[in-house]
Amino acid sequence: MITVAIITVSDRSSKGMRDDLSGPEIRKWAESQEYKVVSETIVPDEQDKIKDKLIEFSDAGYDLILTTGGTGFAPRDVTPEATKAVIDREAPGFAEAMRAKSLAITPHAMLSRAASGIRKQSIIINLPGSPKAVRENLSFIEKAIPHAVKLLKGKVTDCAIE
Ligand code: MTE
Repeated sequence: MITVAIITVSDRSSKGMRDDLSGPEIRKWAESQEYKVVSETIVPDEQDKIKDKLIEFSDAGYDLILTTGGTGFAPRDVTPEATKAVIDREAPGFAEAMRAKSLAITPHAMLSRAASGIRKQSIIINLPGSPKAVRENLSFIEKAIPHAVKLLKGKVTDCAIE
């Protein structure tokens, strides 16, 4: 079973000033895919705090680490920088697909600087912050996730027969 860790990045939610609606949205999606949510956390928009959680969750060997929030242009939006600082290998296809598909919905899709990559045995993908954007973006990438996880674990020898 694919294991999923969720990181909501939000100054206000981390202080309890705003309900986190996006983390639960990711959980709902993960359960609909029959994945196991192994950890959920909220951190402020601080690069070191985001990095620490990404490192903790990838050291734990979780298959998929999904962040939500902090991908835009606001001064404190640093989730992509934290992600790029910890990954071993880039996996830009997820972020590219999300931006490309999202542009059909809103021109503001251009404003997401979301990154995606691999650290150890974990795939890390940044999602935008709103629950609507989370739902939409997950729907654009969900079909590729099981194959990605299998590849990363060395369980695919021939893509042609998958
Ligand atoms: N992508 C989709 N599919 N749907 C959306 O509503 N919102 C956009 C964009 N991507 C959106 C989207 C907006 S308004 C912004 S500012 C950026 O994601 C960055 O969002 P973030 O700063 O909350 O991470």
